[in-house]
Amino acid sequence: MSEPLLSIENLQVKFSRSEDEVYAVNNVSFAIHENEALGIVGESGSGKSVTLMSSIGLIRENGKITSGKALFQGKDLLKLRPKQLEDIRGRDIGVVFQDPMTSLNPIMRIGDQIMEAMLTHQYASRKEAFNRTIQLLQEIGIPDPHSRFKSYPHEFSGGMRQRIMIAIALACEPQLLIADEPTTALDVTVQMQILALLQDLRRKRGMSVVIVTHDFGLATNFCDKIIVMYGGQIMEAASTDMFIREATHPYSIGLKASIIEVGNKGKEISPIPGAARTLTEAPTGCPFAERCPFKTERCLNEVPELRAFGIDHYIACHHAEEVASYAV
Ligand SMILES: Nc1ncnc2c1ncn2[C@@H]1O[C@H](COP(=O)(O)OP(=O)(O)OP(=O)(O)O)[C@@H](O)[C@H]1O
Ligand code: SF4
Ligand SMILES: [Mg+2]
Repeated sequence: MSEPLLSIENLQVKFSRSEDEVYAVNNVSFAIHENEALGIVGESGSGKSVTLMSSIGLIRENGKITSGKALFQGKDLLKLRPKQLEDIRGRDIGVVFQDPMTSLNPIMRIGDQIMEAMLTHQYASRKEAFNRTIQLLQEIGIPDPHSRFKSYPHEFSGGMRQRIMIAIALACEPQLLIADEPTTALDVTVQMQILALLQDLRRKRGMSVVIVTHDFGLATNFCDKIIVMYGGQIMEAASTDMFIREATHPYSIGLKASIIEVGNKGKEISPIPGAARTLTEAPTGCPFAERCPFKTERCLNEVPELRAFGIDHYIACHHAEEVASYAV
């Protein structure tokens, strides 16, 4: 296989709080190749957003990347100067944040915000940027793009603002789109339109996508590979086909079993019994042990490493073989 477009190696992220520390991401490694879509799933607080954002050098002030590499086309993003990183983000890597309300400039017309993305990175002349903005607004399903160009973010619904964020992220035709819950706020029809647009861009230009989602159906429909996170670690990683057929980690099995129909929003993840805990110490065992029906003494005392478990299949569980035989 070709070299990965983005390769994350042993990423560790810690936050300081007034009383303690949060071990948010613990030894996470994964790779994404050209024209590939990777879905990251897991319950709230499992470390999905922090993994994604710190991979591209975005981290809150109280956070620190304590180790790891994020190699994008061979360059370690975590070693670049802020200006170099900003050049790559927005041009080569498009980013859609979890909360669009805080990412758009409230006092700037949305058309100008999309154009600015292109002008900042010298991607297009002013005239080309204007034309492309109109085209992008059309593509993401904003009606009457010429007049909506002049609107401000507060004049749009949450779903429309999310689409504008996507337009900004796609403005410079990035090779990689990193999207944190990009369609959660949208209704099913619009969600499908946006996903169709992303699929189209992938096909036309070989764009790769890393997408965080709570929507299991979306992950399996849209993505080639799935990563399941829990307690800031990857519990299981597999090609989507393999994952659908043979997910083996007790947490993944619980996630799959807990898919329920939620109104017209389609399939979502409902909670597995027990609650995810914030890790305030470095993990010394399996983070899922408290909720795992298969746990043993070893699980409490030894962190399971992510290991190969068949073709296109990796798992972090001491007892995966027994779990697999039990599941048969
Ligand atoms: N700035 C911060 N300071 C302290 N702890 C933080 C900070 N940001 C995130 N965390 C903690 O890091 C852990 C991982 O958070 P993260 O936002 O990555 O979860 P997530 O999987 O994206 O959840 P969600 O599905 O709710 O978006 C959580 O325990 C969270 O409380
Ligand atoms: S390592 Fe142990 S506690 Fe963790 S998922 Fe596997 S069996 Fe369960
Ligand atoms: Mg998140």
